[in-house]
Amino acid sequence: MPDIIKALENRRAEARLGGGQRRIDVQHGKGKLTARERLDVLLDPDSFEEYDMFVTQRCNDFGMADQDIPGDGVVTGWGAINGRMTYVYSQDFTVFGGSLSETHALKICKILDLAMQNGAPVIGLNDSGGARIQEGVDSLGGYAEVFWRNVQASGVVPQISVIMGPCAGGAVYSPAMTDFIYMVRDTSYMFVTGPDVVKTVTNEIVSAEELGGASTHTKKSSVADAAFDNDIETLLEVRRLFEYLPLSNREKAPHMVVNDAVDRAEMSLDHIIPQNANTPYDMEEVIEKIADEGEFLQIQREHAGNILVGFIRLDGDTVGVVANQPKVLAGCLDIDASKKAARFVRFCDCFNIPILTLVDVPGFLPGTAQEYGGIIKHGAKLLFAYAEATVPKVTLITRKAYGGAYDVMASKHIRADINYAWPTAEIAVMGAKGATEIIYRSELGDKEKIAQRTADYEARFANPFVAAERGFIDDVILPHNSRKRLIRAFSTLKGKRVEGPPKKHDNIPL
Ligand code: HXC
Repeated sequence: MPDIIKALENRRAEARLGGGQRRIDVQHGKGKLTARERLDVLLDPDSFEEYDMFVTQRCNDFGMADQDIPGDGVVTGWGAINGRMTYVYSQDFTVFGGSLSETHALKICKILDLAMQNGAPVIGLNDSGGARIQEGVDSLGGYAEVFWRNVQASGVVPQISVIMGPCAGGAVYSPAMTDFIYMVRDTSYMFVTGPDVVKTVTNEIVSAEELGGASTHTKKSSVADAAFDNDIETLLEVRRLFEYLPLSNREKAPHMVVNDAVDRAEMSLDHIIPQNANTPYDMEEVIEKIADEGEFLQIQREHAGNILVGFIRLDGDTVGVVANQPKVLAGCLDIDASKKAARFVRFCDCFNIPILTLVDVPGFLPGTAQEYGGIIKHGAKLLFAYAEATVPKVTLITRKAYGGAYDVMASKHIRADINYAWPTAEIAVMGAKGATEIIYRSELGDKEKIAQRTADYEARFANPFVAAERGFIDDVILPHNSRKRLIRAFSTLKGKRVEGPPKKHDNIPL
């Protein structure tokens, strides 16, 4: 018996060594942790249970017949984050560059199948050179099996991808189909084809960092949702994100005990809106003053700053926030902002997370760049996402709610449940100046008359009461009471049930 146990221990020790000490040292030399060290940081101590440690690859071509490394380049299993279960896989770059073989793929597929069946999220730590080149079509097939399961799991369990090294070719498409992508600055890259191929095909000379580094993907492409300085910080941030999410679409997000009174008045909110309607203020400050303990976890902070999206808690429950940011582009909706917010709204709706919308929007951003880029279709994504969402939706208009953007930003008409406004709200087809210049065009030569017309328009519409008289706004609330009123509003919606018409699925304007 002791011999058998020793043999098992030896086999385990061999598997834990992955591609060997030399390659582990190279990994450390790049400032990266190994696949197993990463799981130690991500998961609660002693919670990790590994599966398929002894799986080996099956390829015999290109000198692979005698290259069986137990585990085949990916560590899979389940563990816990603050006591809540999650499935995980962690690619081991020390084994054939973390490349994906048929068996490597099967290990990931097993995790995805179990996650869907048992209702727990999947967190993938990606560090991979893409398809295992020696394997050919077996590897491509393996990728497609993973992709298919990512799609099946979408909306069933949260899927989080962490990019922790080079991710090339097929290695980027599985993350792209998951709910959130976090990257590590300076050591992680995502591209369909690397700099060498780019140079050959397009003659462009570009570094890996410029082509697919964290800055590119969090700011320009918006492929990634956030980036952090090193492996440890990134994994701790994944733990923080995980805390806001339910385990599956069959459950609610966890309720946290928070140290913040539900009726906390925030007097500074009474003065946050500037006298001049064109002067910006910081909507992030409004969110933090309303949220439990001032905590706001932003998604895509570095992209489309004119809209803010992310998670807060109200009375201990997760709430998704979408808010126009007057500090950037005056809070206008443009292509990037519409896409960013639409995807976030859909995530919240999949996973039973109520949505709070804070509105200060002068309209859609005008211009040829926006029109040629398809603002009509991209703006429609946000409209569509809000209209189809059946989770509790509460809206608070702080200042401007003009034109189509008023309708889009979770108005009563597209079925927000409770709509509040501050006394500073202005709900109109457009700003008073623009409106006057259109409807009194013949009087434009007469400055005095136009000033009077503008003042009349302002007096009529630069307030929330016309909308409130019609019941489009349920109440005009005092800014300092916002936290209390919003918490009470969401508390009335806990039993919300909505049935839509029967259909296979909708056809959101992609
Ligand atoms: C097999 C691979 C590999 C791969 C890397 N390795 N990528 N083995 N298949 N795809 C091996 C290397 O041979 C090396 O083995 C070890 O991993 C480390 O690689 P290095 O090149 O030394 O590391 P580094 O300099 O850090 O460069 C990492 C890299 C580079 C940028 C990922 O290796 C690279 O460009 N690899 C190929 C990327 C690629 O084109 N993949 C195929 C994409 S096509 P040793 O033994 O020396 O340690 C694809 C199609 C799927 O994925 C499409 C589905 C939709």
